[in-house]
Amino acid sequence: MSGKVYVTRPLLGEAADLLRQRTSVEGNEVDEVLPRAVLLDRLKTVDVAVTQLTDTIDADLLAALPQLKAVANVAVGFNNIDIDAATRMGVMITNTPGVLTETTADFAWTLLMAAARRVVEADRYVRAGKFKAWGLQMLLGQDIHGKTIGVVGFGRIGQAVARRARGFGMRVVFFDPFPVPAAVAAEAGAEAVSFDSLLGLSDFVSLHVPLGPDTHHLFNDAAFAKMKPTAVLVNTSRGPVIDEKALARALRAGRIAGAGLDVYEHEPAVAPELLTMDNIVLAPHIASASRETRLKMCLMAAENALAALDGRRPPNLVNPDVWERRRI
Ligand code: GLV
Repeated sequence: MSGKVYVTRPLLGEAADLLRQRTSVEGNEVDEVLPRAVLLDRLKTVDVAVTQLTDTIDADLLAALPQLKAVANVAVGFNNIDIDAATRMGVMITNTPGVLTETTADFAWTLLMAAARRVVEADRYVRAGKFKAWGLQMLLGQDIHGKTIGVVGFGRIGQAVARRARGFGMRVVFFDPFPVPAAVAAEAGAEAVSFDSLLGLSDFVSLHVPLGPDTHHLFNDAAFAKMKPTAVLVNTSRGPVIDEKALARALRAGRIAGAGLDVYEHEPAVAPELLTMDNIVLAPHIASASRETRLKMCLMAAENALAALDGRRPPNLVNPDVWERRRI
């Protein structure tokens, strides 16, 4: 197979081996984000880039890389890439859907339960030597079983989150702007409702929408005002879906009770006011971070990259229009 691949941050071992066995591959040896100028320089002579969501692949960068044929992003989301520009310039973009669905759903529940039952606060309490005796009123949280969960965005991950609610005997409502077949909703044991109804009904709200103009700041002051004061908001999708300043206001004013965040509006920065609050659980974008799933994501990206180099249609092509007028 001829052609060069550049990997912007190290992949898990087996995926790196797969690429090395099949093609000429170079890569950043250090697991750090490459500054833009360095990224541009490293990609100047390569056919395929294997990127991560910390790499910004915008129109200017793509325009400076006329030889680039494909970008294999190691993530299901691709908001770090200007898809329209890539399509215009004939660059294939691929992602890693499906393999992280269940792992991400597990983690949405991890955050939900940690926030509801104050697990992180409890851990800090014990480590600080404050646990002197059992207490009837110590670290009271709220029940999860029997409550209502609202799932915003009912794609693969939203459905997997909904299925898990069955074991907790919960009512599941969901909102999705796109039509969801009745059989899919029934299989997940979930009822479709309007966005406002979901906000009013839900004890827990979990976000599973892609980031786009319609979902940017979907959770703002107006949305928080419609939620229950006891509600817990969980976000494992993309940070800018929540207006972080509005979230801080809502938590401080008791308009909602708590939150669990894996993603941030200005990632990796976190709004400083959130860092001082006890009723929020914060994670560093690790929802898909099980060893098994991250390996599957890396292997999938490697297969996408190899297919593009080989002149085959990459299995997870995000912009199929490019395939019709392919450059390989
Ligand atoms: C992670 O956020 C992903 O999009 O895979």
